Amino acid sequence: MSDNGFEKMNIQWFPGHMTKAQRMIEDNIKLVDAVCEILDARIPNASRNPDIDRLAAGKPRLIILNRTDLADPDVTAQWKKHFEAQGIKILETDAKTGKGVNGFVPALKELLSEKIAEYAAKGQATRPLRVMILGIPNVGKSTFINKVAKRKAAIAGDKPGVTRGKQWISIDKSLDLLDTPGILWPKFDSQQVGEMLAITNAIKADVIDKETLAANFMLRLRELYPEALIARYKFEPDPELNGFELLEQAAKKRGFLISKGEYDIERMANTLLGEYHDGKLGRISLEKPE
Ligand code: G4P
Repeated sequence: MSDNGFEKMNIQWFPGHMTKAQRMIEDNIKLVDAVCEILDARIPNASRNPDIDRLAAGKPRLIILNRTDLADPDVTAQWKKHFEAQGIKILETDAKTGKGVNGFVPALKELLSEKIAEYAAKGQATRPLRVMILGIPNVGKSTFINKVAKRKAAIAGDKPGVTRGKQWISIDKSLDLLDTPGILWPKFDSQQVGEMLAITNAIKADVIDKETLAANFMLRLRELYPEALIARYKFEPDPELNGFELLEQAAKKRGFLISKGEYDIERMANTLLGEYHDGKLGRISLEKPE
């Protein structure tokens, strides 16, 4: 166990896919007018590619904070302020229901108003704007694009780590989107970031130890949202307990008994992660801006 009580985890990455995706971005960046990053509103930092400033090469940028339905609204407001202070435009969405998605085209037109005027001055007023869509796997890219396109233009599915080839999607005569395969961090050296990605399903859950992940998640919940544990699992999280013991407490309350006095921690780990995924713990953000 590490000093702060969090268990050490070994989280695997897919460097081959990442290198390929980075190269694809580098090769295509010159074809687009703007770059749109889709982030998970619960983990805007961990779900962001740290190389994006270099990869986006000075292009106008829009950040979409997606999954706002699952994120803490107060924290999402803090992130919005944080990014806007860096001159980056923000759109908040819940791509699953489509909330906020209608703001996408107007936001792009505002972001690219100079470019639009430039095309018009050159007599190219009908030239469509081209925008690259970036995001880690499973962040909701396909769902978002399908909502914008009002048709099934991108392949959606819960398969983190599975990459697709790039594709151009015509939204209307004024806008083309370049959908890219999911990109993860090119290099991975922070356990905390890996955990955030695993908790939110960006990393395949079967390549990691779910019990350790859930134990560490319990510690985070005790620190950030103890009221969620009380409301959902009906126990007051004792500050003295470690993550596994907290899982055991929850298992006890749920009646996940294996034999007399022994509780099913594995089942509780799956339950906790599944219920977070489904929003049953309430709206919980795992990162705040520094
Ligand atoms: P990707 O292209 O970036 O890989 O992601 P994709 O659109 O396939 O979305 C991954 C999952 O996330 C999908 O769920 C999708 O419905 C869900 N999703 C996308 N945007 C949102 C959002 O704003 N809020 C919520 N709550 N979910 C969102 P799925 O695989 O079909 O199943 P499930 O995760 O809904 O169970």
